[in-house]
Amino acid sequence: MESAEKEEISVEDEAVDKNVFKDCSKIAFYRRQKQLLSKKSTYRALLDSVTPGEDSARFQIINEPAKVPLLAEVCGIEGNIFRLKINEEIPLKPRYEVPDVLTSKLTTVRLTSCPGDTGSLVLASGKGDLKCHITANPFKVDLVSEEEVVMSINSLGQLYFEQLQIPPKQRATKKNEEDASIDTTQENQEELGLWEEKFENFVDVKVNGPASIGLDFSLHGFEHLYGIPQHAESHQLKNTSDSDAYRLYNLDVYGYKIHDKMGIYGSVPYLLAHKLGRTLGIFWLNASETLVEIKTEPAVKYTLTQTGPVAAKQKVGSRTDVHWMSESGIIDVFLLTGPTPSDVFKQYSYLTGTQAMPPLFSLGYHQCRWNYEDEQDVKAVDAGFDEHDIPYDVMWLDIEHTEGKRYFTWDKKRFPNPKRMQDLLRSKKRKLVVISDPHVKVDPNYSVYAKAKEQGFFVRNHEGGDFEGVCWPGLSSYLDFTNPKVRKWYSSLFAFSVYQGSTDILHIWNDMNEPSVFKGPEQTMQKNAIHHGNWEHRELHNIYGFYQQMATTEGLIQRSKGKERPFVLTRSFFAGSQKYGAVWTGDNTAEWSHLKISIPMLLTLSVTGISFCGADVGGFIGDPEAELLVRWYQAGAYQPFFRGHATMNTKRREPWLFGEEHTRLIREAIRERYTLLPYWYSLFYSAHVASQPVMRPLWVEFPNELETFSVEDEYMLGGALLVHPVTEPKATVVDVFLPGSSEIWYDSKTFAHWKGACTVKIPVTLDAIPVFQRGGSVVPIKTTIGRSTGFMTNSPYGLRVALSTKGSAMGEFYLDDGHSFQYLHQKQFLHRKFSFSSGVLTNSCADERGHYPSKCVVEQILVLGLKKQPSSVTAHSADGSAQPVAFTYHATTSTLKLETLSLNIGADWKVRVQ
Ligand code: NOJ
Repeated sequence: MESAEKEEISVEDEAVDKNVFKDCSKIAFYRRQKQLLSKKSTYRALLDSVTPGEDSARFQIINEPAKVPLLAEVCGIEGNIFRLKINEEIPLKPRYEVPDVLTSKLTTVRLTSCPGDTGSLVLASGKGDLKCHITANPFKVDLVSEEEVVMSINSLGQLYFEQLQIPPKQRATKKNEEDASIDTTQENQEELGLWEEKFENFVDVKVNGPASIGLDFSLHGFEHLYGIPQHAESHQLKNTSDSDAYRLYNLDVYGYKIHDKMGIYGSVPYLLAHKLGRTLGIFWLNASETLVEIKTEPAVKYTLTQTGPVAAKQKVGSRTDVHWMSESGIIDVFLLTGPTPSDVFKQYSYLTGTQAMPPLFSLGYHQCRWNYEDEQDVKAVDAGFDEHDIPYDVMWLDIEHTEGKRYFTWDKKRFPNPKRMQDLLRSKKRKLVVISDPHVKVDPNYSVYAKAKEQGFFVRNHEGGDFEGVCWPGLSSYLDFTNPKVRKWYSSLFAFSVYQGSTDILHIWNDMNEPSVFKGPEQTMQKNAIHHGNWEHRELHNIYGFYQQMATTEGLIQRSKGKERPFVLTRSFFAGSQKYGAVWTGDNTAEWSHLKISIPMLLTLSVTGISFCGADVGGFIGDPEAELLVRWYQAGAYQPFFRGHATMNTKRREPWLFGEEHTRLIREAIRERYTLLPYWYSLFYSAHVASQPVMRPLWVEFPNELETFSVEDEYMLGGALLVHPVTEPKATVVDVFLPGSSEIWYDSKTFAHWKGACTVKIPVTLDAIPVFQRGGSVVPIKTTIGRSTGFMTNSPYGLRVALSTKGSAMGEFYLDDGHSFQYLHQKQFLHRKFSFSSGVLTNSCADERGHYPSKCVVEQILVLGLKKQPSSVTAHSADGSAQPVAFTYHATTSTLKLETLSLNIGADWKVRVQ
């Protein structure tokens, strides 16, 4: 053990500089595509070869130099989605097609072929208002909606497909060499990196040779694009003409640089485009290294339409071209046709699944640090929250809790009695999250290693042995989560009987799962490592972390015999990771700029399906000053995953260590989070069942207001709250944009109101950040805060009713037991609707299928924007009985307060204001 411990790695080993990572010029398939596309060889479609299939149309496409045909397949998928697949007709060996991401239930729709011009094929889906126009020569596909071309594919001729070849050494005849589609002369080999690619001291030997693919998409009339996380970049995608392409390659980048297009921990190869009247999505289902170039042509040009000095403004259609390039695999792309943002969210989740419904505790505040040293430390920090009257739900333990970074074990000196420690947390109705990384220490005496080794469960190196790389425990092997058997076995490790010291309050954190390999190329695994099915790592790199979270989630569900909802946080992710839990933005820095970038980063994750996301509060690296920490708590309280975390060499920063005043401010921020828990939980239900993101960029809520399309310093939480975090030091005033010309907005602290479609200067102190409630909404809250969510089960509710300009409001509320799957299997839930109109607030059922008895009452109702003092307020129950209600009315703020109610949250009732 002694010597093994010496092998462990310290934090400094993880700190890397940007030169460790490739820019585009160092990526061979990028160079090849650029070089060969400039030679312009076009593809043509052999539309005579169309075989009318039940569900799809297939035809060959061919480019002259290569002569070998590709096979294209177009199919329609339920919900106005088109899928285009392009693969080699007869590849030398199968090419990787990403499994396990698409939900199995995809239903195809019949495409009918309509008469087109000669040399073209028109396929219509559904009622015929959506069509695919396929032009034969040069090959091009236009997506037409209601006679308008909204997207063209390959109109720039960037279709690129490297067909698999026999390695040069094995080629028997000169003829073969001539047939090869790519120049393989020796002098070009280095530059093109066909069979071998060098980077720093690493050589990537490619047994399959070049296999990259690419395709262009022109989005007509679109200038605003979003998505393709993860980058520390703005929400709106930038033009890449003068910079590197956006890179999708999961990498462990400690203290990542902001406003950079380099790939960081996770990838979702999916983007959305939005313009007035239409939202579209492009989902490029490929798990190999991917690059995306964006080129936007401006919308308006000034041209001289007359001679002389008079220049007339002439509208020229704007367009954005998107060029996707991947290192290998096939072209498998889904076109999501909207037309609204909400439709696109539904279409995407139809393909990849919706956000898992989180257990309620996981929406509370999480306290993490690398590391809480020992049981005593945990006890003291836990007590600190109670002493300072700060609610929190989850204590976290990082890698040092284990015996020498052997996951599923406990350091016996620091944590001699993990069950006792969990009992303490349980007594406060709190939970524990511990880390479990994908690397396994090479140690024959470590049972996880020994069993995995014996069963051949590790990723292999290209020579056939187990892949070994360096990570926290020193030399490690990496579980091959792409193998269903490995996942099954890994899941079984979470069984209470197997995971010694674990209890039902223990949940899991998957980290370092890009995977991170300290001495590997770009700090990750060699691309020629071998996975289950003999697939090279290069084919599936971006989906490795997805699989670990999938197996962990399964494991936690199984340990409860399918009863309990798990909580699993992952650093690495792919399209569809939302089904398995939460994601965070990795190793950020305690700087104002990192607080600020957390907003667009989380908005981007949110619109690509991952609603349960957050950033380390306070910044992981470095020591935040008190003001930054307070501002970060205030922002984090309004972000979906809310966890304070810090790296090991930082000063301790539990919320009460910055003086009384700052403790008060942090307490307030966290308490505000707990106040709003009913709203958060209801929003997550809507993400889970209706695919609507929890955190929404303004353009999603106001798709017809051009001014919202580029806003990313504020956002909507659901449809009701607008949040504008303060991200500058010493701010005294903040410019808040309030969208919507017919909207009215209420300051949630002062109740002052503004009409929408303007920017207002809001004075701020360190007390709070600007939050506004939209007129026309009802927000459910808790009126009493407990030590943790568990203590709030029976506490009363309040309703914040903000009236629209028409004097009405609507809102929803969802409740279940907060932890089990009974809401799903037994329909044990409560889904209510609150509506206010003509002076009557009504509580009615929103979903008759659900039943969940609750003793909780609505105790307070606050009505904002009531212009006239009422003469009476009465509460009416379903049996017809009526009770007068005491009220206070403030004419200056036009607010009505009812504070002594006792109306069951789950019952039908009305409150009449006269
Ligand atoms: C890297 C993670 O991003 C960080 O959150 C964690 O504390 C360290 N690994 C140690 O496990």
